[in-house]
Amino acid sequence: MYAGGVQELFRAIFRRDLQATASAPGRVNLIGEHTDYNGGAVLPTVIPQRTTVALAARDDRLVRVHTTFGAASAIYALGAETPRHDCFDYVQGCTWALAEAGFDVPGVDLAIDSTIPAGSGLSSSAALEVALLRAFRTLAALPLDDVALARLAHRAESGFVGARIGLMDQMAVSLADATTALFFDTATLVVEHVPLPWRAELAVIDSGVRHALVAGGYNTRRAECERAAAALDVDQLCRLGLEALDRIARLPEPLDRRARHVVTEHARVAEAVRAMQAGDVERLGELFVASHVSQRDDYAVSVPAVDRLVELALEESAVYGARLTGGGFGGAIVLLVDRGHGATVAARIAERHRRETGGGATVVVPLTM
Ligand code: GLA
Repeated sequence: MYAGGVQELFRAIFRRDLQATASAPGRVNLIGEHTDYNGGAVLPTVIPQRTTVALAARDDRLVRVHTTFGAASAIYALGAETPRHDCFDYVQGCTWALAEAGFDVPGVDLAIDSTIPAGSGLSSSAALEVALLRAFRTLAALPLDDVALARLAHRAESGFVGARIGLMDQMAVSLADATTALFFDTATLVVEHVPLPWRAELAVIDSGVRHALVAGGYNTRRAECERAAAALDVDQLCRLGLEALDRIARLPEPLDRRARHVVTEHARVAEAVRAMQAGDVERLGELFVASHVSQRDDYAVSVPAVDRLVELALEESAVYGARLTGGGFGGAIVLLVDRGHGATVAARIAERHRRETGGGATVVVPLTM
């Protein structure tokens, strides 16, 4: 993070005035994991950490980028975007997707700052894409509403970067707010803001184990789901309800377990919404735990460091439930904790985890200065 903020960073690097700034938050998914590319529902909300960008137009077609993280700077020409397998691909993906959609934008000088941990399943990439597209929307007065902008960000990542992700992250980052969870049904594109329960608060602990969506097992899981859906004669697994579990059990291993996770997880989202509406945090906590077990045993996207974080969390009397959040293969857990206890409980869990495993677990939410 740049102490003076992204605007000062922009002026320091490019020695000129900026023309547009924008930001976007990270997200944490409460429940509904790996359902968004199976025609299912998800329930994310935002975290306080954000990515902020500042930019100004250039008279040529060059994009000069400076970030406060990763490889610090890069330069490329609009129309000549080429994947380089680092964070600049998200920037290149956005200008590539804008051009593909027929939007004419100028070359820019661009500064990017972020407080979202990368590779933790908290959508640092979607936040970068949405923040950048918001800034381009302002700069070039692009006729894009927040859903269209989310779709363009998704196109940047799936079409250019090459991660075959669902639409959850970009929709959450573009549409969600801090007091509600965003129920999003990827089959119907229905969106509903569900108030977070007042008796509990959310905490997020990063295991310190990094994932990589492009290189990791994410695309493999997606392919397994497609094979399971074909074997069950549906276009997407979430077309099936819990009554299909007998048929699913007859699929060959591991497709049986993959499909069972997706179908039961989709059902848990609807139940979680009902629990939230009823203020039933005990039930919501149980659903978190069931979701974690399903991700660990059936979908096989957890890792031992994350499982241990969940176990330590469940030893705390103020915790209703905890689960792996995001794409998996490392990353963070989300916990539902009695209101007022999030900071102390999360700090204690992270500390115990660090002491026991020698790893780098850190508290992401609540944000303490
Ligand atoms: C990543 C992807 C999302 C979603 C989650 C798993 O965050 O970007 O589209 O599939 O994994 O729920």
